[in-house]
Amino acid sequence: MSRPHRLLPHFFLSLLLLVSLAACAQKNTAVGSAGSAEGVLLVAFGTSVPEALPSMEAVDVAFKDAFPGQPVVWAYTSQRIRKKLAAEGRPVGGISDGLERLAGKGVRTVRVQSLHVMAGEEFSALERALLLDVKAHPGRFDHVYLGRPMLESAEDARALARAVREDTAPLRKNGSALVLMGHGQEHGRAGLTFEGTRAVFSESDRRTYMATVEGARGFDELLAELRKDRVRRVVLQPLMLVAGDHARNDLAGAEDDSWASRLTKAGISNTAHLKGLGQIEGVRALLVRHAKESADDITREPRKQ
Ligand code: CO
Repeated sequence: MSRPHRLLPHFFLSLLLLVSLAACAQKNTAVGSAGSAEGVLLVAFGTSVPEALPSMEAVDVAFKDAFPGQPVVWAYTSQRIRKKLAAEGRPVGGISDGLERLAGKGVRTVRVQSLHVMAGEEFSALERALLLDVKAHPGRFDHVYLGRPMLESAEDARALARAVREDTAPLRKNGSALVLMGHGQEHGRAGLTFEGTRAVFSESDRRTYMATVEGARGFDELLAELRKDRVRRVVLQPLMLVAGDHARNDLAGAEDDSWASRLTKAGISNTAHLKGLGQIEGVRALLVRHAKESADDITREPRKQ
């Protein structure tokens, strides 16, 4: 008489397992028909300069190709830019808006990809905003993977250096050196990554120079270096996702204080190549790789060592 009693729990367990397996299968098909189970959220600082859009569009296409059938949604972190775009009738949401849109499309697994060049202030803000949003909507997503920014490793820097070198080669046939304008940050966040990147670039091509518009290594250091190396002619390019406001004004603008004007004044002839990094194929491949590689599910506790 005791036998059936001992078997009963096993039977129920098996039944439970079958039911949950069936539920899982059903969930997958249901989500598949209602929308996509997986989706991508691309996060950038943002830009309101229309000429900068080709870079964003190229990145958008690259992600849609890399994640076929998945919704690719954009978020801009700059509130100032979002307000401006909304007033112009071409709104782009923030991180929470983007996550809400993906959830509305039936997405259960989100790949968030940072389009920042380095993990500075903006990337930290993205991480925090994501965590807060996930906490505010428990269980909304099964997984939220966060992809690291463009430059994480020396390998990334080498890939970027190669892509930029190949892209600018035709413009430098006259012997021009290359000057890249990074963004940089007042408090030096990511300043070390910038210095490391600078070293990798110069290893890859000694005639590449780099400084920042807002960070520690500014124009004066750049000019001193160019003078020391007796550089007469340069190609100017932004080391930023888009050729936006900084590229068009601080780098190549007609004003006296732009890098172009100051270089001309210093007797160094220059041509501006107003192309955002997103317009370079190798750079897009780097960002897509980071999205695919990310195993950092921010809905879970960090892996214990
Ligand atoms: Co800026």
